[in-house]
Amino acid sequence: MTRHFLRDDDLTPAEQATVLDRAAELKADHFARRPLEGPRAVALIFDKPTLRTQLSFTVGVAELGGHPMVVDGNLAQIGSRESIADVTRVIERQVAAIVWRTYEQSRIDEMAANSGVPVVNALTDDFHPCQILADLLTIREHKGELAGLTMTYVGDGANNMAHSYLLGGATAGMQVRIGAPATHQPRADILQRASEIAGQTGGAVLVTDDPVAAVLDADVVITDTWVSMGQEAEAGDRKGDESPFTKFAVDSALVGHAAQDAIVMHCLPAYRGFEISGEVIDGPQSVVWDEAENRLHAQKAILSFLLES
Ligand code: NVA
Repeated sequence: MTRHFLRDDDLTPAEQATVLDRAAELKADHFARRPLEGPRAVALIFDKPTLRTQLSFTVGVAELGGHPMVVDGNLAQIGSRESIADVTRVIERQVAAIVWRTYEQSRIDEMAANSGVPVVNALTDDFHPCQILADLLTIREHKGELAGLTMTYVGDGANNMAHSYLLGGATAGMQVRIGAPATHQPRADILQRASEIAGQTGGAVLVTDDPVAAVLDADVVITDTWVSMGQEAEAGDRKGDESPFTKFAVDSALVGHAAQDAIVMHCLPAYRGFEISGEVIDGPQSVVWDEAENRLHAQKAILSFLLES
């Protein structure tokens, strides 16, 4: 059975721990594993904008011994010029794995259903599981452990990051809190799935519309843009004076409610003065540059895990 990584709960708790260990190993020695030696090619397809993801997968595939092949989704027009299934059948004959950033989760699910090589989700409207692996690695580096820690995400609770923190954090046995306006809270089925996982791992999940309650004594405070890719038409409402997110902005006052040694994270790109203040993201509690670097190590680890299993 070909393994794919389409959402955070595609890894069991034990497998997630293995991938994080492997990421640490690859961070210590970039060339410790070379599963793509040959070089085998990996297709990196982007239907949405990218900087960190294209960079880290390109470098990562090369360091694993392979050849990264970037495909511009706007040229490929997958699903409109030809069907997702037909595109997948063409690509899978030539590459060792497919990495895709796209819109609806159903698109990547359909690709995986037609692919004999691993498909990796490089962000969809619903999930961003590679980012969460990088974040968990970062938290482990700074805190020494994951299980039992309180990880709070504040902002748009209905976006891909919030959903992935719920699933990935619960898998790691963390106390995951989402602080979001009542109008932008996580999808019920994802929350339900995260609760089930937390029940098995000793973690917990909590959603609140009170930003202070969400952040209180948290070990990790996280936010993300209020306008995700694909939501540009809503930018006025999401960032304007009447924005429902304003009171969820991560500034020094809000971070002051977290544990004294809390770390602050943001997947980037960041919009200073909106979801996070310059003082916080550029301040001593911020670990965002470690987090961005860890994309490389985490993604090499998941690729090597999928290719070898
Ligand atoms: N929620 C953001 C994450 C960017 C990495 C987006 O989808 O645009």
